[in-house]
Amino acid sequence: MSIQAFQWFNPTKLIVKHDASHEIADYIAADQIQSVLLVSGKGSVKKIGVYDQVVNALKAKRIIIYELSGVRANPEIKTVIQGIGICRKHSIQAVVPIGGGSSFDTAKGIACGAALSEQDLKSENAWEIYEGKVQITKALPIYGVLTISATGSEMNIGAVAQDDAQKKKYSFHSIHCFPKVSIVDPKLQAHLPWFQQVNGFVDAFMHICEFVTNMEDTEEAETTFALDLSLLRSIIKAGDKLQQNTNDHVARANFIWAATCALNQLSAVAMRGGCGAVHYMEHPLSAQDPSISHGAGLGVVFPAFVRANGERGLRLQMYDRMAKEVFGREGWQGVIDGFQTQLKKWGHPTSLNELFGREVGEEERIQLLEIFKKRPVCGHYPDMKLPEDIAADTYKYM
Ligand code: NZQ
Ligand code: ZN
Repeated sequence: MSIQAFQWFNPTKLIVKHDASHEIADYIAADQIQSVLLVSGKGSVKKIGVYDQVVNALKAKRIIIYELSGVRANPEIKTVIQGIGICRKHSIQAVVPIGGGSSFDTAKGIACGAALSEQDLKSENAWEIYEGKVQITKALPIYGVLTISATGSEMNIGAVAQDDAQKKKYSFHSIHCFPKVSIVDPKLQAHLPWFQQVNGFVDAFMHICEFVTNMEDTEEAETTFALDLSLLRSIIKAGDKLQQNTNDHVARANFIWAATCALNQLSAVAMRGGCGAVHYMEHPLSAQDPSISHGAGLGVVFPAFVRANGERGLRLQMYDRMAKEVFGREGWQGVIDGFQTQLKKWGHPTSLNELFGREVGEEERIQLLEIFKKRPVCGHYPDMKLPEDIAADTYKYM
């Protein structure tokens, strides 16, 4: 067994605190920023009042505000392009997402694109960032207010966008994407519809699984392994409590921290880069139908992927340990049973048919596989060389 050299680096200041969203203006002002682009979704943050709180606080600091709202869940590249254009036109100094992963990810694409010159990247070519054709060398600083915990985007380097016309949902990763400050008020997430909350539980759960189930054995990174299995148990525990009482802010705060740790690289230390396969096989589902939530898609892909591996005798040690320590069961079948039982308890879909609300035939499953195969292997997961037969079985079983 070899020792793996590792490092952990995360420069984001994360603040989890009640009624603190307006404090983002203090951090922005302290950095002498004079103008910002606010990036938000389809209106929920305006309805729950947090948007106005941030606007008023920025105005009190005499910071000039530009706005880009309407970011879709499963955000579109055209919004990123629009944001880059606004930032360049007005020489905006910082980007401020208020919302969930979709607003944060859009803000990251804008922050990286806008920092490049028009000569290096025409704004209408922003998709090249996601295709890895443009080197990101800097970004405008990002100060965010997170209103749904799920993606870890508040404290990581990833950003996702999609191009509906090409049926492509891609991500890029740059160290310049770390937000400078992210504020999370647990109370705001009590407004989330239950389905969205569960999307968050599943997404966070899956980020950890991508690392845990990628290892050859559990000894090599025992500390991270133990941490990760605890995080998985915490997510289930907090999720069950929130199902009983959405205003359980203590359970919420615990989930918030678990969701951040799931993808701020802490759960990944010494885990050989993680796999990403479940994510890569989910992205074609949202690319095929943008109304499919990322979390709901992952919940359907994961058990099918476990089965495809388990039947081939792959990853057995990881699955068995996860089955025992997270679900009190055994073997890869124990992972599937435990996970699907939890999803059913939370009222989430467990099959592709349920997810799409109709029968998804063999031909369409092959189409999804084709979309998956078109994506180049992402540099973030250099070890991911997923054999095609495993991917094909995963789409068949889900
Ligand atoms: O659009 P609005 O009106 O804001 O409503 C949103 C949206 O409908 C709503 N919402 C957010 N906060 C709310 C609220 N509703 C009521 N009360 C609140 N407090 O929730 C819905 C989902 O929002 P979204 O931002 O899309 O959710 P999420 O955070 O799950 O982000 C999903 C996106 O992130 C990507 C996913 O692929 C997907 O595109 N991911 C990003 C990652 C990253 N940056 O590292 C990694 C992930 O694996 C993931 O791929
Ligand atoms: Zn995810």
